[in-house]
Amino acid sequence: VSTQPSSSPTNRASKVLLTQDELKKIAAYEAVKFVQSGMVLGLGTGSTAKHAVDKIGELLKQGKLKNIVGIPTSNVTRDQAISVGIPLSDLDKHPIMDLSIDGADEVDPHMNLVKGRGGSLLREKMVEATSKKFIVIVDESKLVKYIGGSGLAMPVEIVQFCWKFTLSRLEMLFMEAGCVGKLRKFGDSEEPFVTDNGNYIIDLYFKKDIGDLKAASDAILRLPGVVEHGMFLDMATTLIVAGEHGVRVTNK
Ligand code: 5RP
Repeated sequence: VSTQPSSSPTNRASKVLLTQDELKKIAAYEAVKFVQSGMVLGLGTGSTAKHAVDKIGELLKQGKLKNIVGIPTSNVTRDQAISVGIPLSDLDKHPIMDLSIDGADEVDPHMNLVKGRGGSLLREKMVEATSKKFIVIVDESKLVKYIGGSGLAMPVEIVQFCWKFTLSRLEMLFMEAGCVGKLRKFGDSEEPFVTDNGNYIIDLYFKKDIGDLKAASDAILRLPGVVEHGMFLDMATTLIVAGEHGVRVTNK
């Protein structure tokens, strides 16, 4: 693992602290420096990835990038990419990405991730798993000591059929970690959140470290009814973290 400080985003002269969204934008723009003309790009989803998509669109318009093909990881990103003029395709036609850029909800010290609090984990994993390079862009609030360590959700996409059954099986798998599962709702409504693939999401909350992540991943994926989970293990090749003290780029 090699880490390089890149630049300092803090406006020290006026002591103005940057907002979380400004830090996300700094990380995203740093990642876009890796984009070259002719690349097939996995386009991530979420408020951080959105900045990268906007920037790629801007560079295309300015003629500074050419012949880019984008593979979006959600319907929202597809619509955004169209609106900024990025030509799109899909995994059937372009099964290998040169580079994917996406945000994350948690990043552990080994660059394992939790993704999917935005609900797009399945398409994100399909696209990012086939990327030669996968750059994860975060502000430093996303760094955790261990997966689940933020106390926030680890999402699992499941089929709608008998979702309560699948939820209870998931809780049973992680009983020792005090796991509680909740069906994700759509905004403030009582309606379930439905993914772009027509599935539900169960958000798992852990009271303790779940330990062996590979074993946890295998156990979740063995449950009938589960489509995919939000742990992205050993997939990221580069991590870009923007914080008040600068931007850090770490290569695996
Ligand atoms: C969506 C994701 C996002 O990348 C993740 O939720 C981070 O989002 P944001 O950049 O808005 O903090 O996994 O499914």
